[in-house]
Amino acid sequence: MNKQISPSIMCVAWLELKETIKAFEENGIEYIHVDIMDGSFVPNFTLGTDFVKALKSATNIPLDIHMMIENPESKLDWFQFGEGDYVAVHYESTPHIHRAVGAIKARGAKAMVAINPGTPICMLENLLDDIDAVLIMTVNPGFAGQKLVKATLKKISELREYLDANGYGHIEIEVDGNVSFENARLMSDAGANIFVAGTSSIFAKDGNLAENTAKLRDSIK
Ligand code: DX5
Ligand code: ZN
Repeated sequence: MNKQISPSIMCVAWLELKETIKAFEENGIEYIHVDIMDGSFVPNFTLGTDFVKALKSATNIPLDIHMMIENPESKLDWFQFGEGDYVAVHYESTPHIHRAVGAIKARGAKAMVAINPGTPICMLENLLDDIDAVLIMTVNPGFAGQKLVKATLKKISELREYLDANGYGHIEIEVDGNVSFENARLMSDAGANIFVAGTSSIFAKDGNLAENTAKLRDSIK
């Protein structure tokens, strides 16, 4: 499967936002990962509706919107997204996960379901006919700069194996959280193909964005 990079925009140096988006475009970045946090589903607040709107008008890079909010199915209409964009909703965030997936597809976007480190992959079974990707959280959602929860590596390989063996080979696997240059290699070997790049890779301080992108591409090739 095509290996793709989705930088986490919450990790950007805010006053350099415009230049960073330009650098994404120059470096062939495939998606921009946008973390939406509501202070309830996760213990943090981040980006919101106006930011997504501004981002959509600033670039043609498709968005990869990660909804860390309670009952996302009732809030999707607040956000601007459409064909080519990914929207991820958490399995744990609503009793109506299937309805949430349907609402994303009805808008023409690609549907992704996210699972926390403590949620087993079997919970996805009855959603597989309706989704385009699974987001395996490799840290507990809420903050950048955390350490990998090692047990999630096994979830990636077991899920990839299950998908391929059961006619779901087209479903992509995204990983989010401490996707460092070293961990990205392990995640890629396990079967992940979309990599959320944050403080531990693309925004790492010891290289610029072009150098870090090249290094990350080398880890996941
Ligand atoms: C949470 C975020 C974080 C983060 C990724 O959903 O997407 O995981 O920004 O970056 P690091 O590399 O800091 O974990
Ligand atoms: Zn995220």
